[in-house]
Amino acid sequence: MPIEKLTEFVISQIAAGEVVERPSSVVKELIENSLDAGATHVAVEVQEGGRKLIRVSDDGSGIPSQEVRLALARHATSKLKNADDLYAIQTLGFRGEALSSIVAVSRTTLVTRHRQENMGIEVHIEGGEIHYEKGKGVPAGTVMSVENLFFNTPARLKFLKTENTEKRHIYNLITDYAMAYPHVKFTLLQDGRETFRSTGSGHLADVAVKVFGLDVFKQMLEVYGEEVIQHGGDKIIVQGYVTMPEMNRNDRSRIVLFVNGRAVQDSGLVYGITQAYQMLMEKGRYPYAMLMLSVPTDFVDVNVHPTKAEVRFQDNNITFVAVQRAVREVLLKSAKLSVIQHNELATAPIVPRTAWHNSANRTSQPQQDDMGFTVESYSRPRPTPDMSDDDLAYIPEGAGKPSKPRTLPPLRVMGQIGAMYIIAEGPAGLYLVDQYAASERVVFEELTENFATLGENITVLNGATIDLTAKQFKSMEPHIEDLARLGLQLEPFGNTTLAIRAIPSAVQARDAIELVGRIVLGLEQGDTFPHGFLMRIAQIGAIKNGQALTTEQMQHVIRKLERCPDPLISPSGRATLVHMSSEQLAREFSKKR
Ligand SMILES: Nc1ncnc2c1ncn2[C@@H]1O[C@H](COP(=O)(O)OP(=O)(O)OP(=O)(O)O)[C@@H](O)[C@H]1O
Ligand SMILES: [Mg+2]
Repeated sequence: MPIEKLTEFVISQIAAGEVVERPSSVVKELIENSLDAGATHVAVEVQEGGRKLIRVSDDGSGIPSQEVRLALARHATSKLKNADDLYAIQTLGFRGEALSSIVAVSRTTLVTRHRQENMGIEVHIEGGEIHYEKGKGVPAGTVMSVENLFFNTPARLKFLKTENTEKRHIYNLITDYAMAYPHVKFTLLQDGRETFRSTGSGHLADVAVKVFGLDVFKQMLEVYGEEVIQHGGDKIIVQGYVTMPEMNRNDRSRIVLFVNGRAVQDSGLVYGITQAYQMLMEKGRYPYAMLMLSVPTDFVDVNVHPTKAEVRFQDNNITFVAVQRAVREVLLKSAKLSVIQHNELATAPIVPRTAWHNSANRTSQPQQDDMGFTVESYSRPRPTPDMSDDDLAYIPEGAGKPSKPRTLPPLRVMGQIGAMYIIAEGPAGLYLVDQYAASERVVFEELTENFATLGENITVLNGATIDLTAKQFKSMEPHIEDLARLGLQLEPFGNTTLAIRAIPSAVQARDAIELVGRIVLGLEQGDTFPHGFLMRIAQIGAIKNGQALTTEQMQHVIRKLERCPDPLISPSGRATLVHMSSEQLAREFSKKR
């Protein structure tokens, strides 16, 4: 074929194809226009999943009668002037393409009256051609009625999904926007039936209850987090709701994301959310979530996709971290709260039947409450530095030394799997404890508590040295004094060699070189005194994976963990335990095979 210029009609059809993929795209563009026009009420009416009719009415500013034709033209917008404005966009629209695209592939009637005009106007357009235009007395605002979508593009019509799929899409779209704009009242009428209504009260919680249903909402946690963007000091704010791990579903379709008031699809952010549930939720399950990010306008490029469904951040890492951290924080906080609640319930005298409660009275024979198998110790039992005989025994509730507040319910040790995990039972179901991560947490807390005397609690070594590269040696030198305060006494020995004079007693002599090695590598990763160094000592002093433990050793770790301020993660950020509630277990067993 020879090269020819496309006709205006073909150009408009191609352009329309980019913006208007399906009925829900029309709904999205129209409600975004209503929101940009400052509407407080947006009414959506749809027939036959949007194929027959989509009508969006608003009480926004209306379009000045002089500008109506322009509004329908391609590349005409009131929202953007210069290319620079693209990085300071406050409105949802800016491309000046939506209306022209919609009217090109439908029969549309636009009725509008600008707030400052007395008379409104009605325009009817079919396939992009204006059929008539007349004055009309109407309230201020705009009503767009889009009929027979794709009537002139039969190929498109064929690709449409079933009516029910479109209905569901439109419903989700309206409910998502209703949550992102809680001060706007949304109503949705589908085939004459009202399927959704929000009150416009301004409270996200009011809308979220309607959208997710009370059962789900009751299991939701409010999220709020801030992350500072390094250059400039601006912030990313994350807010919204997510469900507790127990309330989940098998797809991510109810993870709703808004960035600066714009509905977006962003796999990175979704990943951030699911990462926050790591170890708390089974694989392949997803939470319900509604999260809104506020970022500086110049931090996000909204002009990357014709339907504006995707955005590009200046730094994906920060947004990922912001989301993951905000969600993780609220999940961990609630996990702690709920175990404490369980605990309080269980210690009340009217509930005497939980296993751990009974065992509290059997201090004379500490091992009896751990029925099941005893694990044979095939490696030498590991002397934990301050492990007194007293500590090895079951510590009864309320007896003996004043104890730190509980952060976990009392867990009953049942056994060990694969020389890696401790199985325990608690009032709220099954707990699988990662022995290494848990012990790392426990040792870290002990080190922190005894911080003042760490320098004296040492094991003196004879003749251990470690060779470093010149660079590593240089990076270690300034920290020698700090490390000595923690019980690790090092001394330069030749050009790039360090002699290890003493190690903290939390660490075994045979691990001395590994400890120094870890600290050297940690420095390269930005470790600082004292937290980073203590973390390395805890990692080396902790019970290792692959070590079989006696019941007493397991009990010891668990008892200590139960009173650590942050029992669910290790200092280096690994989950210490996986909890399966009795309900979860029941659900697993009731699944059809
Ligand atoms: N409901 C409405 N109320 C008031 N003005 C409207 C409404 N809908 C459209 N307009 C006006 O018509 C113009 C064109 O709308 P259109 O949706 O085509 O483009 P846009 O919103 O500027 O950009 P985009 O293509 O990104 O949506 C808008 O800039 C706005 O001035
Ligand atoms: Mg628009």
